[in-house]
Amino acid sequence: MKGHLLSTEDLSREDALLVLDTAERMARVAEASVRKLPTLRGRTVVNLFFEDSTRTRTSFEVAAKRLSADVINFSARGSSVSKGESLKDTAQTLEAMGADAVVCRHGASGASHRLATWVRGSVVNAGDGTHEHPTQALLDAFTMRRRLGRVDGLSVTIVGDVLHSRVARSNVWLLTTLGASVTVVAPPTLLPLGVSSWPVQVSYDLDAVLPKSDVVMMLRVQRERMSAAFFPTEREYSRRYGLDVDRAATLPEHALVMHPGPMVRGMEIASQVADSARSTIVEQVANGVSVRMAVLYLLLGGGSGEVA
Ligand code: NCD
Repeated sequence: MKGHLLSTEDLSREDALLVLDTAERMARVAEASVRKLPTLRGRTVVNLFFEDSTRTRTSFEVAAKRLSADVINFSARGSSVSKGESLKDTAQTLEAMGADAVVCRHGASGASHRLATWVRGSVVNAGDGTHEHPTQALLDAFTMRRRLGRVDGLSVTIVGDVLHSRVARSNVWLLTTLGASVTVVAPPTLLPLGVSSWPVQVSYDLDAVLPKSDVVMMLRVQRERMSAAFFPTEREYSRRYGLDVDRAATLPEHALVMHPGPMVRGMEIASQVADSARSTIVEQVANGVSVRMAVLYLLLGGGSGEVA
């Protein structure tokens, strides 16, 4: 075992580039007629999901299968977790069954870090509370690089519920490590207290930053993580922070519109914008498979390099 992928905050530029370059090679497998490599034959990858997921879980499953690993999908619903079994006991049970890697999504920030101290296999953080979602940021950077040729020097604007977004956090760390300059735009109530210590610019005015953005990344308002009202009404939010057709028209010609999904069409993003040529939303999903293949390959010893 060569370690874990828990966050992008402690991911070096060198390791991040290694993942992106490896993902580029993996993308070629997806384009080949036989979309499978024998690299992880005999290895077992466990998807341990305590929170709902469409893209991330299936993406890790496809990635592991394309590398010929065996995959066990474990979701908390329908398991002994609903009988009160702890994360530690669940993890140890899975390990006893021979998991070489555990891909974990959990509602608690720090869950994957804890898990990594309990199991011998590699842990990949697939989202821990509001903390981090490193493979999402890696696939976002990969998408930018494929479309715009680089990440270094890009102006990236991240818009919406930054407070509750692990996607935003992982992107802030990774993109700044890779040389992009990041602006976060949100209502003041949806920015974390500590944002002033992040390596980003903060704006409350979407219209002012769009014409200077190479990439705009829209975030979903994460109601499931909210215990109070963070903005007056959905209409008000959408009017000030939604990417509608008129706003999108103020972006530079080459600019990309990104979204990690799931989208709420009509709220943070208009349908016409989500489906437009500058939108990379579907590409992001496809690229996610290549990036996760790269991560599993590097962590499980398929490559010579180590990730984090
Ligand atoms: C995000 C997540 O779960 O963190 N989705 C994803 O993984 N693509 C964002 C969200 O739920 O809004």
